[in-house]
Amino acid sequence: MNQHVPVLLKESVDLLVKNEEGIYFDGTVGFGGHSSEILGRLHKKGKLVATDKDFEAFTFCKEKFINDKRFSVYNTSFSNIDTIAKIEFIEKFDGIFVDLGVSSYQLDNIQSGFTFREDAPLDLRMNKNEGTPASHILNSFSQELITQIIWNYGEERLAKKIARMIIEEREKNKFESTAQLRNLIEKIVPQRFLSKTLSRVFQALRIYVNNELEELRNFLDKVVNLLNVNGTIVVLAYHSLEDRIVKEKFKYESLECICPPGTPICICGKVKKLKIVNSKPIIPGENEINENKRSRSAKLRAAIRV
Ligand SMILES: C[S@@+](CC[C@H](N)C(=O)[O-])C[C@H]1O[C@@H](n2cnc3c(N)ncnc32)[C@H](O)[C@@H]1O
Repeated sequence: MNQHVPVLLKESVDLLVKNEEGIYFDGTVGFGGHSSEILGRLHKKGKLVATDKDFEAFTFCKEKFINDKRFSVYNTSFSNIDTIAKIEFIEKFDGIFVDLGVSSYQLDNIQSGFTFREDAPLDLRMNKNEGTPASHILNSFSQELITQIIWNYGEERLAKKIARMIIEEREKNKFESTAQLRNLIEKIVPQRFLSKTLSRVFQALRIYVNNELEELRNFLDKVVNLLNVNGTIVVLAYHSLEDRIVKEKFKYESLECICPPGTPICICGKVKKLKIVNSKPIIPGENEINENKRSRSAKLRAAIRV
């Protein structure tokens, strides 16, 4: 089974692990590609705490690392990092890592319900016990809201038209399956653009259903105070909106002062908490992209707690 090929593996773990006896966090354990590499660099006194919202990924890694006492994993969102730290009696981490989005397994596996290539329930939730399925959005949200979701999170220029068709279709048949949405989009979009449009629409719904951008913001807000001095936060993003959130947060936390220009003395009380490691994101090289097409949109950013 093609589970997932970890992206920018060496680059991310090189930046992350500086102390072989340190305590690390992998918020998106997936199939454990990055976690394996992190554990491989740690001494027996080191520790790795991981999370994944997806139950299958969680159980897979629980089993995979069952004999490694340095590893523990939770089936929850990485935005609960502060709660997990408390449960684990951890005050600060030496490195925090997230590899956003979904794994190749989730995208390709019919049961996961993320693929538009096969017919499956139109759900798109990573954690099936949380939030509402994508079908509910298509069946009950207003045309304006559906347009906004497809436009904002999918950057799909046919958003308005697709939303209008969705409203018309649901008067006749309620949305239940991925095939229904696919068939509808097939009617509007020429074959040569179909795959891209389908990817964008499904991605937009997935981001909305899983509250992905808000989870990332919450997580980043907590991270700065959960890192030891000289500890590193490393984020791998695949979507421009996610990357922008990371870039702006790192920039804000790296500023010493946010007083308006011309203020004679600093009154803002701002404290610099991060030092940006790479002003331009690190991206995969040609070889990696050729070997793993899904790595092509990856952007890696890192910052060090000061
Ligand atoms: C790109 S994959 C990670 C792959 C992993 N680095 C590996 O090498 O196997 C992203 C994973 O993050 C999980 N995920 C996405 N958003 C999450 C969140 N807010 N909290 C926890 N896990 C999340 C997904 O379920 C998926 O398993």
